[in-house]
Amino acid sequence: MSNQPFIGMDPEEFRKHGKEVVDWIADYLKNAEKYPVFSRVKPGEIKNQLPATPPATSEKMELILADFHRIILPGITHWNHPGFFAYFANSASAPGILGEMLATALNVNGMLWRTSPSATELEEVVTDWLRQMLGLPSEFQGVIIDTASVSTLVALTAAREAMHKRVREEGLSGRTDLPHLRLYCSDHTHSSIEKAAIILGVGQEGVRKIPSDAQFRMKPDQLAAAIAEDKKNGWLPFAVVVTVGTTSTTSIDPVPAIADICQMEKLWLHVDGAYGGMAAIVPEMRSVLDGCDRADSLVTNPHKWLFTPMDCSVLFTRHVDTLKQAFSLVPEYLKTTDGKVNNYMDWGVQLGRRFRALKLWFIIRSFGVEGMIGILREHCRLAREFALWVDADNNFERLAPVPFSVVCFRYHPKGILDEGKLEHMNAQIIDRINTTGEAFLSHTKLNGRYTIRLAIGNIATAEKHVARVWKLVQQESAKL
Ligand SMILES: Cc1ncc(COP(=O)(O)O)c(C=O)c1O
Repeated sequence: MSNQPFIGMDPEEFRKHGKEVVDWIADYLKNAEKYPVFSRVKPGEIKNQLPATPPATSEKMELILADFHRIILPGITHWNHPGFFAYFANSASAPGILGEMLATALNVNGMLWRTSPSATELEEVVTDWLRQMLGLPSEFQGVIIDTASVSTLVALTAAREAMHKRVREEGLSGRTDLPHLRLYCSDHTHSSIEKAAIILGVGQEGVRKIPSDAQFRMKPDQLAAAIAEDKKNGWLPFAVVVTVGTTSTTSIDPVPAIADICQMEKLWLHVDGAYGGMAAIVPEMRSVLDGCDRADSLVTNPHKWLFTPMDCSVLFTRHVDTLKQAFSLVPEYLKTTDGKVNNYMDWGVQLGRRFRALKLWFIIRSFGVEGMIGILREHCRLAREFALWVDADNNFERLAPVPFSVVCFRYHPKGILDEGKLEHMNAQIIDRINTTGEAFLSHTKLNGRYTIRLAIGNIATAEKHVARVWKLVQQESAKL
């Protein structure tokens, strides 16, 4: 019998396949463009190739890897493709992948400081590095959470706790002493805010969506009026969520004016900067976070626009004590005598925590802040250039300003006024481009108008890719 510890496979075989996998990843990252960016499979096509029951006995890794290539890869939509322009494009950069591989191998659960001091202390350091890069005040402390959706849920839980209404102890249901809670955001806010309200017992009716102006930004006067009206009608306002970089158009809510209202009304101000907040690392774009230094909490996602493999979201707050009041619940088996250390399990929902700080550390060190600034700056330049091409073509119209790296536009030949027809034509353009495998676009609706969104965010996207997708848009529209 072998005196090697059992690790699920023979260690030498692991070494062999590990090298094969790293070789494949290196080629994949180099050649991501050669794959069709948008998977061409039909629903059920992948599942139908997989056995319905698990294998009773061990299968060879050669076979598993062969099936990965044969069955799984065709069903992949390649987010690493430089022609990925849908949603918010992102990137699994090579340094991030190396960090992720090591984090997986270490398999650390960073719930307590003592369950891996490096995980906790590195998280403290990299979130503070990111805070400095974003120009946020030093009283903000960061915690890494999986997604912006959960970061916002955590922030709004703290906001609810900050009311000191004993919701943690007594809950919300059946209480006659507590009015219905109200939270405010714009009609362009991401769906995750409403989801958080559902989970928190605030309910969808407890979310009041404030209308936006012509540039899709929350109207502060309407916010103030809504709060006054709600208070008169017996609601209990507790938080406002502003967005820096809304999902559809990347608009920026007027945070300074809203911060004034929050200060006056004593409401928690949460900033959703999941995508756009990251632009503040670029010196000439720092103003996108104007007023956010007055926020109670802010989320931004390195997994969106900082080349970090999924998943990695950073929540900053100046009220860690409130966060802990909301979440800390320490059973006997997790009690420690480690003294003044961070036990990140006290800062949110989850107990078990992945070592996400490692990949972020690898990325920030490997790119350097200047390297990251250069890429974000170039993405924004490419978007502005694309916007100029759209503006110069009479058959197209731009439907929103371009503050970051997303362009909203549509095909609109002269004389066609029927919105249904325009929607059909623009949807056809997207569908036909997506089937080419060269580019992947998605859409939104703005004031009822079907809108094509070009989102530049992949690390490998260069001018030639943006020029190519514009050519495809023109070619496909000409065929209609
Ligand atoms: C503005 C904004 N906030 C939040 C989210 C949710 O991000 P996540 O997928 O990290 O939950 C998105 C997703 O695109 C977004 O655009």
